[in-house]
Amino acid sequence: MRLAVEKATKCICRCLVICEIVCYTASLLKEDRFCGRSEEDMTIQEEIKKLKEEKQAVILAHYYVKPEVQEIADYIGDSFYLSKIAAKLENPIIVYCGVSFMGESGCLLSPDKKVLMPDKAADCPMAHMVLKEEVETARNTYEDLVVVCYINSTAEIKSWSDVSVTSANAVKIVKNLPNKNVLFIPDKNLGRFVAEQVPEKNVMLVKGYCPIHENILADEIRELKRVHPDAEILVHPECCEEVTAMADYIGSTSGIIQYASESEKKEWIIGTETGVRYELEKRNPDNQFYFPKTEPICKDMKLITLEKILYVLKTEENQAGVAVETAEAAKKTLDKMLELAK
Ligand code: 13P
Ligand code: SF4
Repeated sequence: MRLAVEKATKCICRCLVICEIVCYTASLLKEDRFCGRSEEDMTIQEEIKKLKEEKQAVILAHYYVKPEVQEIADYIGDSFYLSKIAAKLENPIIVYCGVSFMGESGCLLSPDKKVLMPDKAADCPMAHMVLKEEVETARNTYEDLVVVCYINSTAEIKSWSDVSVTSANAVKIVKNLPNKNVLFIPDKNLGRFVAEQVPEKNVMLVKGYCPIHENILADEIRELKRVHPDAEILVHPECCEEVTAMADYIGSTSGIIQYASESEKKEWIIGTETGVRYELEKRNPDNQFYFPKTEPICKDMKLITLEKILYVLKTEENQAGVAVETAEAAKKTLDKMLELAK
C-alpha cells in the first residue's frame, strides 16, 4: 500500500513538472521572450499594416525603440538617415516612432505632411539643455561665431542656431565650416568628440548631456573587456570621455551597426542604448553583443508601443507641430545640414 502511494506521488510530481515546462514554454512564446513577439503583438501589427496601406501612411523608427516597433517600421535608422527620408517622402501621413525633436524635425523637413507621434510625452531631456543667454553671450563675444546644434534639440533651440548636425555627420560638417569659432549645443560629449577630431577649430561647449549615455560607466565597460578580452568596444559619441577613450570605434547608432556588420570579428562590447541590439543581432546572428550591466535604456524611446501606433493611425491624433515664430529659422538649420552633409 505504502509503495503504491509513493509511486502515485512520484507520478503526480512528474506530471506537475511536465505541466510547468509546457506552461513556461507557452508563456515564453506568448510573452515575447522566445520568438520576439506575442500573438497579441502580431494581431496589432496586422491591423497597423492594413490601416497604413489604407491611409498611405509610412512608419519611421529610430534604432532605440522596442523591437516589435522596429519590426513594423518602413524605415528604421539613426537620426540622420530618418531626417533624409522624412525630407523626401511622398506619403501624406508620417508616423514618427521616436522622441519629440524627431517629430518636430519631420514637420520642418516635410511641412505639407501630417506627422503623428505615438506618444507625445516621449521627449529627449538633452534637447532642452541650453539657455538662449548662453548662445547670445557667445554671439556677442566672437564675431565669426557659428552656432552648431545637435539635432537632439528643440525647434526653438534650432531657431537660434546656424546649422544642425547629427552624430553621423557632425565632424564632417564642423570641419568644412569656414568659421574658426564654433559654439556646439547642447551635447557636451558629442561636442568634445567633434573638438578632438577638428583641433584646428575653437569649439566651445555648454553643459548638456544625454542622461542615458552619460550613465554608461567606464568601470562596467572595463569589466566587460576583462571577461571578453577579444571583444571590440563600440560606443556612441554621447558617452563620457572616460568611455570614449577606451573605444575601438566611436560613431552613431548606424555607424556602430555598420562597423560590427562589416567586420570579421564576432564579439562586441556596445556602449549605446540597448535598442540597437535588435538590428545588430538581425544582421549578425552568429555574433555576441555585450551591454553594460547597468543597461542603457532610454525610457522615452520605450514609450512607443504598437498599441499607441495603432491608435494614432486610427484617430490621427497627436500631430507634431512647430510654433510659427520658430519654424522658418529652425528649418533653415536642418536644410543646411542636409546640404552640407552631402
Ligand atoms: P543617432 O541616431 O545619431 O545615432 O543618435 C542617437 C540618439 O541619441 C538619438 O536620440
Ligand atoms: Fe535623448 Fe539620450 Fe534618449 Fe537619445 S537616448 S533620446 S539622447 S535621452
